[in-house]
Amino acid sequence: MDADGLSRLLTPDGWALLSALPPYDERLAMPLGERLRAEGLHPSLVAAALTQSRLRGKARAKLGDFADGMLFTPAGLEQATRLEVGAHHARRYRDAGLAHVADLTCGIGADALAFAGVGLRVTAAELDEMTAAIATVNLRHFPEVEVRHTDGLTLDLTGVDGVYADPARRAGGSRVFDPAAYAPPLDAVLAVRERVPALGLKLGPGIAHRDLPDDARAQWVSVDGDVVELGLWFGPLAPEGPGRSALVLVGGQPHVLAPDEVAHAHVGEVGTYLYEPDGAVIRAGLVGDVALEVRGRLVDPTIAYVTSDELAATPFATAYRVLDRMPFGLKRLRTYLRERGVGRLTIKKRGTAVVPEQLRRQLDLRGDATGTIVLTRVAGHQTVLVVEPVGDEVTSTNAPGGS
Ligand SMILES: C[S@@+](CC[C@H](N)C(=O)[O-])C[C@H]1O[C@@H](n2cnc3c(N)ncnc32)[C@H](O)[C@@H]1O
Repeated sequence: MDADGLSRLLTPDGWALLSALPPYDERLAMPLGERLRAEGLHPSLVAAALTQSRLRGKARAKLGDFADGMLFTPAGLEQATRLEVGAHHARRYRDAGLAHVADLTCGIGADALAFAGVGLRVTAAELDEMTAAIATVNLRHFPEVEVRHTDGLTLDLTGVDGVYADPARRAGGSRVFDPAAYAPPLDAVLAVRERVPALGLKLGPGIAHRDLPDDARAQWVSVDGDVVELGLWFGPLAPEGPGRSALVLVGGQPHVLAPDEVAHAHVGEVGTYLYEPDGAVIRAGLVGDVALEVRGRLVDPTIAYVTSDELAATPFATAYRVLDRMPFGLKRLRTYLRERGVGRLTIKKRGTAVVPEQLRRQLDLRGDATGTIVLTRVAGHQTVLVVEPVGDEVTSTNAPGGS
């Protein structure tokens, strides 16, 4: 969408057109566009409305019903924080008793929306002109929000009692891994806490632990199994003090793993159950704490699988019953699966170079039965564990958790 498309969309007729479009359907978009242009609508308006309709459809996964009243850029949507995670960000500021937050890098405004939603006053900055215009539209229902088209690092922070930044980690369409190449650079954002101690940052979950400052509360977040971010919280935003934790959101329910001291699990024999820790727990380096919780041990010192003889309910790991185990060998595995008529196989792996899709082709599976195998190292040896998910057998009634 170009500036001309945006300004046409923001006229009463343009907005009415966007609101009147049917739910986006890829197959119908072209004939619909042709019809609208044939009716005399400006091609640039039609293109902008169809683009927005498509992006709104996509945005529902992150922003629910709010998406229907918002505008997006493809990059802005991709980088936007999911509303349910934004709500957790916002709660930190509210619970710290803060009133006025500066969002230094607001993008299309998803985090700012969550801040405004809990009653915070927000000054939001965005360097990209079109994105800043879109954020202004998206935050129009909140008089306490001001969006500025400016460099967030130059904002006057007088009267601001909390700062938030979600630096861009993409440049020219590809991901940036060096924190010095974020926009703005990580160090420049971290320096803000010398002026406003209540600083919060959203970063990519893959950043190395050694790049994290010692005074941060680092919280890796997953949503229904996908690790979505690392939050760094400072000063009053981290009442629990510096350290590492995982926030695991499952079906909208939050569970926090935040040990006072990180546990180190011992290594031992594969037991009756295998636990696959949630990705946020793994990134946070808290696999030992999951092992402690399920009274288990690691299958290998360097691999994030936990095993136990007990079945325990935990939101921090998925449990499997171990049915069989064998050294890894293609022929042997193929025979094993053929004998059992396994035609549909879930392949999980950790600590092995095997490429699941390649293995699946080599196995040439036949049959109606389903199966799950885990390829991993056990005491240094490439091993196949045949497992089945325990699913509903573990009730959530005795699951630890909290927010
Ligand atoms: C990851 S996005 C923010 C997403 C936002 N938190 C949300 O939930 O919608 C980062 C944004 O920062 C903007 N940006 C980069 N450098 C900036 C700067 N120095 N000042 C203000 N905005 C900046 C980029 O244009 C981009 O839109």
